[in-house]
Amino acid sequence: MNRISVNVDGTTYEDEVEPRLLLVHYLRDRPALTGTQIGCDTGNCGACTVDLDGASVKSCSVLAVQADGGEVTTLQGLAQDGEWHPLQRSFHERHALQCGYCTPGMIMAARDLLRHNPDPSPEEVRYSLRGNLCRCTGYQNIVQAVLAAAAAPDSVTAPAAGGEQTWP
Ligand code: FES
Ligand code: FES
Repeated sequence: MNRISVNVDGTTYEDEVEPRLLLVHYLRDRPALTGTQIGCDTGNCGACTVDLDGASVKSCSVLAVQADGGEVTTLQGLAQDGEWHPLQRSFHERHALQCGYCTPGMIMAARDLLRHNPDPSPEEVRYSLRGNLCRCTGYQNIVQAVLAAAAAPDSVTAPAAGGEQTWP
């Protein structure tokens, strides 16, 4: 067992963990932050995407011990003072989800994109989300939601755009 100290969504957790424990299982089991999803466990789907020390990572590809001393932000840590993050609001208003299983990873990956590129083109959004799969194939509205959040983070109220489903 290894002792780790990890700050998750603003709360520090101290735990003894097995060296083989994946970060995604730690997040879901210890702080019970089940908003971080497990879609494949093989690094393909992106549903488990979180932020670790400022880098977007697939938490099924990271060991919990690798987060020792670090800061993790999950989807559940994005809302502040009861207010959704602009991306959360934009996904809701643009109906950028169907079953919603991919949504946490999509939003976390999009957040990482907008931190590095606050004014992305549709192509840049699609490229940046290429590691996140949506089984419901709702990609068009996802791209529209990310663009809307980038363009008007505080006034994303337009209805979802229809049109062709393209990806990436
Ligand atoms: S569960 Fe991590 S990439 Fe699919
Ligand atoms: S909305 Fe169902 S997997 Fe994306």
